[in-house]
Amino acid sequence: MCRILPKYGLVFFLLALFGFIFLLRNISHVETWNCQTFSTLYQLQNKIHSSFVSVSLPAFHHNSTFCVQLGQKASPEDELEERFLLDSIAWPSPPPAAATPRIRQTSDPVHSFFNILPSREGRGWHVGDQLEVLVQIRDFQGHPKHYGGDFLLARLHSPELGAGVAGAVLDHRNGFYSALFPLLWEGPAQVEVTLVHPSEAVAVLQRLREERPDRVFFKSLFRLGFLSETTVCNMCLPSDEQQPLCNYTDLYTGEPWFCYKPKILSCDTRINHFKGGYLKHLITNKEALLFQSGVNLKVPLRASGSDRIDVLPQRDKAEEEAGSLKPEQLHLSPSGYYYRELWRPLNGPTTRQFNQLSTTQCLKNKVINMYGDSTVRQWFEYLISAVPELKEFNLSSPKNVGPFMAVDTTHNILVRYRCHGPPIRFSTVLSSELRYISNELDGLSGGPNTVVVLSIWAHFSTFPVEVYIRRLRHIRRAVVRLMDRAPGTLVVIRSANLQLLDQEVSLYNSDWFSLQLDATLKAMFKGLNVLMVDAWQMTAAHHLPHALHPPPAIVGNMIDVLLSYICP
Ligand SMILES: *[C@@H]1O[C@H](CO)[C@@H](O)[C@H](O)[C@H]1NC(C)=O
Ligand SMILES: *[C@@H]1O[C@H](CO)[C@@H](O)[C@H](O)[C@H]1NC(C)=O
Ligand SMILES: *[C@@H]1O[C@H](CO)[C@@H](O)[C@H](O)[C@H]1NC(C)=O
Ligand SMILES: *[C@@H]1O[C@H](CO)[C@@H](O)[C@H](O)[C@H]1NC(C)=O
Repeated sequence: MCRILPKYGLVFFLLALFGFIFLLRNISHVETWNCQTFSTLYQLQNKIHSSFVSVSLPAFHHNSTFCVQLGQKASPEDELEERFLLDSIAWPSPPPAAATPRIRQTSDPVHSFFNILPSREGRGWHVGDQLEVLVQIRDFQGHPKHYGGDFLLARLHSPELGAGVAGAVLDHRNGFYSALFPLLWEGPAQVEVTLVHPSEAVAVLQRLREERPDRVFFKSLFRLGFLSETTVCNMCLPSDEQQPLCNYTDLYTGEPWFCYKPKILSCDTRINHFKGGYLKHLITNKEALLFQSGVNLKVPLRASGSDRIDVLPQRDKAEEEAGSLKPEQLHLSPSGYYYRELWRPLNGPTTRQFNQLSTTQCLKNKVINMYGDSTVRQWFEYLISAVPELKEFNLSSPKNVGPFMAVDTTHNILVRYRCHGPPIRFSTVLSSELRYISNELDGLSGGPNTVVVLSIWAHFSTFPVEVYIRRLRHIRRAVVRLMDRAPGTLVVIRSANLQLLDQEVSLYNSDWFSLQLDATLKAMFKGLNVLMVDAWQMTAAHHLPHALHPPPAIVGNMIDVLLSYICP
């Protein structure tokens, strides 16, 4: 077409103009046009299209309520719960005087350090005791910080024993932090404290989360016959008369989703959904200094003194009464720990190690439905590679997107995976495959042979937490309905995990966002008859580097926990 353009340029231009005016006159007619009309217009399409492609991204209402107010109005109980949840994850902000800090007055891991506090009455550490570590944060000038809000991770581990457990971090809000660890194994143990973000960086993330839900944006392709257009989509989009919206709000849940209306085509012609991209230049050069790999982004602190202890066997009964902490004195109940590289949950069934044979035995006659993001797709992939009889059925789905399905007809096993509804940053999902988990659950008959596995967190980090709460509320209702109509259905939730961070990743996917979502998720499903695979602690306690998609050693442990839940 380009080559013939010079010659017929004028003709094409007039045709295009005519077509354009005609189309704008009555857009709704487009749907009823036949293919022949389109083949005539086909040649005009590129010309018309090109006048729309340079649509710039819209400016957002930079306030925290815009995205949140969309969708169905929450009931008073829901609002109460929401307030409770938001209060429980409230993060201290730097004092107003430090709102625009000079970098040299911000938290510096090199000047900060931790101390292992002496054991009680100097009698050494025993299995069952709690180890306490005091962390002092200082700035780049070496001055102690006087306010809290730094995001720290703590881990107690033993490379010799393949052991590790996540510690609880208490913020004393004065520059001091305590890291607390239960002592769960006998032998050597080593403390590791990491500054993930200085408090000043968390404040930047907090602002981005509330004000820039557009920092990952989405697009949809609209197509009818040979005519196609692409527009920007998101959970909330500013609109006006020049930029009308297509409203894809889910009729069952009220989950909002919008795209800008294509100029020509109707809203019904949406074909797919894909990640549009990541907005750049979100922070100032000065703010960028708060997110420097190797300087103040996920950097370990040094110990002042030794970072190791030797844990002695459990005290005898009488001594224990006197010396060790009562369970209520423990500030953290870790969900489990690694020992000899195997995850041992502390509440729930003991984890067994499953091989190919016992996995097949366990899954016999079961239907496993996995819904969520790529971190549970990893489980699907792990299972089909671990069990060769579990053959993936070719649904011709796009790579990494799904839906996927694997069957073992000999043992009557069916495993399915489907991604959750928008926001989802997958490459390209067909509109027809964009399903909300709660609606999918409503379509399950369930029963003792049905297992449901959910993982929903990674794609919500760019939105205010209220958006996540709303989504989980819908899923939770569907879970309750499922369990009520089909008792015995097993529901397993995979929580969020830590990931590899650099400056760019931090702005969209920081562990700080994930931590807040993870705490919300765990609180919202607490007390329900669902089982949790604590991916957060399983990645925090492990020696392998953090990764959005944890390495097979960790996924294998997660699968063992899952199978132990299915076959206790
Ligand atoms: C556009 O089409 C609709 C339905 O096909 C019709 O009812 C309406 O009158 C048309 N409008 C114009 C301006 O032609
Ligand atoms: C946020 O933006 C919306 C949409 O413009 C507006 O209705 C609302 O009043 C704003 N809220 C605040 C707190 O500014
Ligand atoms: C979108 O559609 C839903 C459901 O039909 C409706 O409740 C909501 O008000 C609509 N939103 C907008 C902005 O048009
Ligand atoms: C699945 O089937 C489609 C055609 O139906 C084919 O193009 C594709 O290569 C197949 N995929 C695999 C993994 O075999």
